[in-house]
Amino acid sequence: MKRLDDFRLQMGQQELVPIVIGGMGVDISSSDLALQAARLGGVGHISDAMVKTVTDRRYKTKYVKAKQAMYQYNVNSEDKSAVKFDLGDLAEATRMHVERTMARKQGPGMVFINCMEKLTMNGPKETLRVRMASALDAGIDGITLAAGLHLGSFALIEDHPRFRHAKLGIIVSSLRALQLFLKKNSRLNRLPDYVVVEGPLAGGHLGFGMDWAQYDLATIVAEILAWLKAEQLDIPVIPAGGIFTGSDAVRFMEMGASGVQVATRFTVTQECGLPDDIKQEYFKANEEDIEVNEISPTGYPMRMIKSSPGIGDGIRPNCEAYGYLLDANGKCAYVTSYNREVAAHPGVRRISVMDKTCLCTHMRNFDIWTCGQLTWRLKDTTVRHADGSYQLLSAEHVFKDYQFSTDDKVQLPEPQALATTP
Ligand SMILES: Cc1cc2nc3c(=O)[nH]c(=O)nc-3n(C[C@H](O)[C@H](O)[C@H](O)COP(=O)(O)O)c2cc1C
Repeated sequence: MKRLDDFRLQMGQQELVPIVIGGMGVDISSSDLALQAARLGGVGHISDAMVKTVTDRRYKTKYVKAKQAMYQYNVNSEDKSAVKFDLGDLAEATRMHVERTMARKQGPGMVFINCMEKLTMNGPKETLRVRMASALDAGIDGITLAAGLHLGSFALIEDHPRFRHAKLGIIVSSLRALQLFLKKNSRLNRLPDYVVVEGPLAGGHLGFGMDWAQYDLATIVAEILAWLKAEQLDIPVIPAGGIFTGSDAVRFMEMGASGVQVATRFTVTQECGLPDDIKQEYFKANEEDIEVNEISPTGYPMRMIKSSPGIGDGIRPNCEAYGYLLDANGKCAYVTSYNREVAAHPGVRRISVMDKTCLCTHMRNFDIWTCGQLTWRLKDTTVRHADGSYQLLSAEHVFKDYQFSTDDKVQLPEPQALATTP
């Protein structure tokens, strides 16, 4: 049986190991994780979700505090339309995140940035333009446009000097979405360099409705491959969502895919940005502990572990400090839900909001544990310590397991002694 290493992902002139670690915001797909993928010859993603929070934490900037102070007067107002992002700060933070990552890059692979368009930031077009242009300025190898893809997004950076040289890709969940994008984009004479086809088992937001379980990644990939062939369009197709072993990946490669995008298995690596105690929650999760719900204010279904502390929490919206999900009119569905509950429970100090969550605050604090459907299998990918905890993996171990394993097997790590306190 073949191994994933028998295939290569051709990205323009560059030949890569066909493993792409998908973007995981907020800073779950950390620079360290992305850099490991690049070092090993694949593609890693950082994410620009809540980038100012990320640079504050990683590089000791003070963007969040400054924005909070500037809009403090608005905290109790339902109307968040005045809470705007300073585009200069946004550019600076994005450049810092990307530059500092790229400065550490080694090896033959690439580092891309995941830009979710649903982060509308009270000014969807201008903020997205700044996010993409700044990442290109700072030397990112490629940009993957995700969650909420707009048909005209490439055009926002068509004047950038790197527009035709950097890799630009999109994530779609249907042939129709791809067709619409290519049609709208045709004026630019610039095809995407790759298309990630994300199926219903992925982590994060889903490009499906609550009927996600009726869809099947292999069927969508087959449709897209057949259509591209009929149209004589040579765009690498990269399936994502529920590809758990090297053999799962090989099956897609044999269908004609160019690579695979994977994420869940890397959530329990040392390099992943989740706090270590939360990585244990991912290991522990059983199948019945995972749900797809509609609490994301973006309007997309999202998959998460049911015991995520952010579910049902009624924290006051913090758009003055964050505000990444404010739409072009300064609205966020959580703000609406929160105010409804406050009005319905006068005098109650700590209300609960069940239908939506304050995704900015909770993703920032790692209190929404978004995950892929196959998270429940993570416990079978490692060894257990005597105290019952699961041994974290190295990103290299997981990457190489995808690359070299056969027969649907997962290679367990060498057991390590638990660090003991004297
Ligand atoms: C914890 C987590 C966070 C994610 N966050 C994002 C994100 O911010 N943007 C995005 O486009 N996809 C996101 N995804 C989706 C992944 O990039 C990837 O396409 C998908 O999860 C692959 O399926 P797998 O997790 O079954 O391997 C996330 C996935 C996980 C597990």
